[in-house]
Amino acid sequence: MRTCNNKAQLQATVQQYRQEGQTIAFVPTMGNLHQGHLDLVRKARKLCDLVIVSIFVNPLQFGPGEDLDAYPRTMAADKEKLFSEGVNLLYAPGVEDIYPDGMERQTVVSVPDLGDTLCGSSRPGHFDGVTTVVCKLLNIVQPDVAVFGEKDFQQLSIVRKMVSDLSMPVNIVGVATKRDEDGLALSSRNGYLTEEERRIAPLLHQTLTTCREAIACGFDNFLQLESHARMQLLQAGFEPDYFAVRDAQTLRAVTEDTAEVAILAAARLGNTRLIDNVRLSLNPVDDWRMLADG
Ligand code: PAF
Repeated sequence: MRTCNNKAQLQATVQQYRQEGQTIAFVPTMGNLHQGHLDLVRKARKLCDLVIVSIFVNPLQFGPGEDLDAYPRTMAADKEKLFSEGVNLLYAPGVEDIYPDGMERQTVVSVPDLGDTLCGSSRPGHFDGVTTVVCKLLNIVQPDVAVFGEKDFQQLSIVRKMVSDLSMPVNIVGVATKRDEDGLALSSRNGYLTEEERRIAPLLHQTLTTCREAIACGFDNFLQLESHARMQLLQAGFEPDYFAVRDAQTLRAVTEDTAEVAILAAARLGNTRLIDNVRLSLNPVDDWRMLADG
């Protein structure tokens, strides 16, 4: 596995791959890799000849008082994992490679509407930081395909919208959330949880799936479902940020035209902010197909 720490090295290598006629799948990450990331890498390997992974803890997507400094940096262990997964190239730039003129002077890419709600409301500027860095990384790497996790469902929707609105020639692929046996979605931030918090944490996913079951059974008072779920989370010791039943396409309220519902939640447990989501197709044929496919 080759490692490039700057844009010039990376682009020279990518040019060589292109001359050889190889297709490229790209997995952007902030490192501290877990099985969820490795699932993205495995998907990427199936889709293209070569896989490029980036590790960059992007300061532009962290707000004041957030965990930028505490965010786990585990480059040596990450490299080993990527090597074992057969990754061809690691791009691990420094902040000055991505923001050579400083972050204040950086042109910002902002996706309206989708970025203003849910995590966008509670973390102002976060998604602008994400779309700006993802846009830059896609322009630097110029992959055929880029792979993102569905755990960050709002992020995935926003990236898809950016790529479509800016006519970027890349195919965005989402990969299902990887979970621990008790349902907790894998996340680099799970490492912040104390033993007691780790015991409570799976309740976030349980609350989401209970809500999904209620909707699947025909219960359609979403406000009641949301407030009941928030209450359950509060009682268990979470500080819920939002628990929302939304249209999976628009991330706005469910309407008569909604084909798929996304139930999304963010909640703080001690010092850790956890997010998760589940989805439900409102088209019974899709559910039947899913059952038939196992
Ligand atoms: O999901 C992440 O890890 C980050 O938001 C991403 C997409 C790598 C951009 O920094």
